[in-house]
Amino acid sequence: MQQHVIASSSPNPRPRARDLSAEEIAEIEHELTLYPTKQAVGLEALKIVQRHQGWVSDESMLAIADYLSVPVSELEGVATFFNLIYRRPVGEKVILFCDSVSCWIMGCDKVKAQLSAHLGIDYGETTTDGEYTLIPVPCLGDCDKAPVMMVGEAMHRHLSVDTIASVLPLKNVRGDK
Ligand code: FES
Repeated sequence: MQQHVIASSSPNPRPRARDLSAEEIAEIEHELTLYPTKQAVGLEALKIVQRHQGWVSDESMLAIADYLSVPVSELEGVATFFNLIYRRPVGEKVILFCDSVSCWIMGCDKVKAQLSAHLGIDYGETTTDGEYTLIPVPCLGDCDKAPVMMVGEAMHRHLSVDTIASVLPLKNVRGDK
């Protein structure tokens, strides 16, 4: 199999493709039966690997590119465009905080400030206990219940400054940039 090498900011200066697991390969193979071309499976393959690994490392990116025989640059483009592909390690739970119009109108800025103060992190950061990563996202599709956020798979609606602590009962954590 061809071994691509890509530029990286990771500690390993010349990452090489890792071996995809049997489960990852089985799921990617299933997707290949649903799409007309290998290129079209790129996003699904990224999601599959992220589901298994928690994020998409350079080594995983290279492995997917090799497996699908697509340029790494093309996959990187997909990952960049689709902002829910994580190219850095994330916490156990990812908080997707809606940062869009209806939520702005309903005061999400104050809720976000309270959330950041509560967890000690800002957007793009992970708590020191590795529990939460906070990421802004465009509309989550629950505008009539704004402000909203997702924590893992759970949607939390009608957020307020007063309810953040009960939604995310913590633990004393400090932000880790
Ligand atoms: S704007 Fe926040 S859910 Fe739509």
